Amino acid sequence: MQSIHGQGIARGNGLAPVCTDCHGIHSIKSPVNTNAAVSGTNVSKDICARCHEGVRLSQEFGVPGNRVTTYFDSYHGLAAQGGSVVAANCSSCHGVHNILPSSDPRSTVNRANLDATCGQCHKGVTQKFTLTPVHLGDGIHPKDIGSIAVRWIRLIYVVLILVVIGVMFLHNAIIWRSKAVARRKMQNPMMFRMTANQRWQHLILLTSFIVLVITGFALKFPDSWFAAVLGMGEQLRSIIHRIAGVALIGAGIYHIFYLAMAKEGRRLILDIAPRPRDAFDAWATMRYYLGLSKEKPKFGRFNYAEKAEYWALVWGTGLMAVTGVMMWAKVWVGDLLARWWVDVATAIHFYEAILATLAIVVWHFYQVFFDPDVYPMNWAWWDGKMPVEHYRHEHELDTEALAEAEANADKPEAGPPKE
Ligand code: HEC
Ligand code: HEC
Ligand code: HEC
Ligand code: HEC
Repeated sequence: MQSIHGQGIARGNGLAPVCTDCHGIHSIKSPVNTNAAVSGTNVSKDICARCHEGVRLSQEFGVPGNRVTTYFDSYHGLAAQGGSVVAANCSSCHGVHNILPSSDPRSTVNRANLDATCGQCHKGVTQKFTLTPVHLGDGIHPKDIGSIAVRWIRLIYVVLILVVIGVMFLHNAIIWRSKAVARRKMQNPMMFRMTANQRWQHLILLTSFIVLVITGFALKFPDSWFAAVLGMGEQLRSIIHRIAGVALIGAGIYHIFYLAMAKEGRRLILDIAPRPRDAFDAWATMRYYLGLSKEKPKFGRFNYAEKAEYWALVWGTGLMAVTGVMMWAKVWVGDLLARWWVDVATAIHFYEAILATLAIVVWHFYQVFFDPDVYPMNWAWWDGKMPVEHYRHEHELDTEALAEAEANADKPEAGPPKE
């Protein structure tokens, strides 16, 4: 009854906690039970934070704010979240049934009593140690020398980090760009790997895919950094996601026509169609790179890894398109079939998105960026060209393309074959 909370209740302050606010009602447990709200870290998280995090207490009762976040940013709060049972929680310093403002001489956090309060755990502390505030944060203790110093240190470091790392990045980016360009020039003679039409298809696919990944996962993980970077609000996010989805489906439909009608497309589908041989190739490749066989398998225009990439993409795009459209037309689908169809589509859409994103990173990015043979990048997606030497190495059985490239190499001024 003597605590600030009890006094508040006596004055008719309906926001001050009564016994049941902290102890629960039907679920009252002893503090020795580590699941109890009145036990350990739960006191800070489940009891005090419930009321002392919001601005309402500061506005209505002048209770100083920001005490919960500053506690969780402090060593005590971080260690307690990490599972420490000896680091201080709110009650270790403020007490429990005897909580009083620090200005009250009876308060455990009154200046006169801090030696004893901190001394419970920090043996031998004097006022020099205890009188420095523990809740450090913007505007809490504007005159405290430690807080002022910490604020300046933060400001100086933020600027320092941006400038130093920015200069380092710029320095290396300039060198990297120049070296990458020089290496690419050294790789002559070149031959064409992707036509302009194919590069456009790839570019639309790549852009819409990245936009879909970011705007999709931003919905699922609203607390993540990319959701924060996006920070555009749900309405705009969902519109952009749909636009990218339509672009991807459009590119897919165009691709089907391309395969059926264009000469280059008909050749592509024949070359990229899976064959039983691909399974043996994969097996032989693993044996070779594990050192179990001396013979390096040879490939045609597309090796098994590229074929797997392509067909995984066909599968994934189809599935994402169908489930995506089902979610878009949820009322229609739900009324026609049953609402759980929409939920099933949503689940597939989410897990397939994870699968597709990881597949791109682990499989495709390896082949086009991280493979030491192509690092820093296989530039074919950009200008369509690939070094003849590299092509011979990877696609030895595509004799037709290699012969054509060789014929053109005799007359270097002619450059690579026409697209
Ligand atoms: C601000 C939150 C809060 C309020 C309000 C509160 N308590 Fe507590 N109470 C606690 C905490 C936290 C503990 C555990 C202290 C500890 O770890 O020893 C506790 C411990 C107890 C214990 C000791 C339990 C044991 O097994 O050691 C009893 C009994 C108790 N409270 C009764 C009450 C009653 C009765 C009221 C109302 C008049 C009340 N409390 C109000 C937070 C509160
Ligand atoms: C149900 C909401 C609620 C909970 C839970 C709660 N408090 Fe409070 N607290 C208040 C209110 C309201 C006041 C202001 C009371 C008044 O002045 O009438 C207050 C005041 C205080 C003050 C005094 C602030 C000042 O300078 O006036 C301290 C310190 C304090 N609470 C600490 C705690 C701690 C520590 C816990 C957790 C063990 C806790 N409170 C749990 C609502 C709550
Ligand atoms: C290590 C000890 C310690 C811990 C842990 C701690 N506090 Fe404090 N708290 C203090 C001290 C000392 C003051 C007074 C000086 C200051 O503001 O730093 C204070 C001040 C406050 C105030 C301002 C009111 C007043 O009496 O000056 C509130 C509210 C408060 N604390 C709530 C909390 C809450 C809620 C938690 C847990 C989330 C918590 N404190 C954790 C030591 C602590
Ligand atoms: C319930 C026990 C407990 C209480 C009460 C307590 N502390 Fe601590 N505190 C700890 C523990 C445990 C550590 C980490 C111990 C270590 O590594 O030496 C710690 C660490 C610290 C640190 C070091 C932080 C860092 O960044 O390394 C400071 C400063 C500190 N406490 C100040 C205080 C002050 C001031 C009070 C009183 C207002 C207080 N503590 C009350 C348990 C407590």
